[in-house]
Amino acid sequence: MATLPPSEPRFAPLFEPLRLGPYTLSHRVVMAPLTRMRATVPGNAPNALNAQYYGQRATPGGLIIAEASQVLATGQGMPATPGIHSREQVEGWKGVVDAIHARADACSCSCGTWGASRTRRTSRAGRCRSRRRRSRRRATR
Ligand SMILES: Cc1cc2nc3c(=O)[nH]c(=O)nc-3n(C[C@H](O)[C@H](O)[C@H](O)COP(=O)(O)O)c2cc1C
Repeated sequence: MATLPPSEPRFAPLFEPLRLGPYTLSHRVVMAPLTRMRATVPGNAPNALNAQYYGQRATPGGLIIAEASQVLATGQGMPATPGIHSREQVEGWKGVVDAIHARADACSCSCGTWGASRTRRTSRAGRCRSRRRRSRRRATR
């Protein structure tokens, strides 16, 4: 049976530091945003369960990108997703960040206040962009 040649590393090593804007990560295992629909209803504020979920996944020097979080009440894509437009929700997120930092060192951070797709579609800028795109498409037909 033929033996395979020793393989060359094809990817950047996972466990080496990475400079990412203002952050220096200790490793490159980044948690992707995942909608979990666990916020408290009514109000859509992150709660102890959200804090536990993110805290469990925190690692020293790691990066967690939090789930899509609506930036206005009408921008909610799914039920029970956490928002970040009310005082109650901001307080809830503080609990999440505290839980992450309790497990990890100061390099860990949680970011991601993204509109769900519906928010993007209804935002003024989004509408302008898609109108422009549509008229460009028509012009090229
Ligand atoms: C159940 C589920 C929930 C997700 N929620 C979000 C989300 O809230 N925001 C987002 O930007 N991406 C979300 N994603 C996309 C994931 O981040 C994406 O699948 C992951 O980065 C892996 O990329 P890939 O699907 O292109 O391989 C979600 C994916 C799944 C399967």
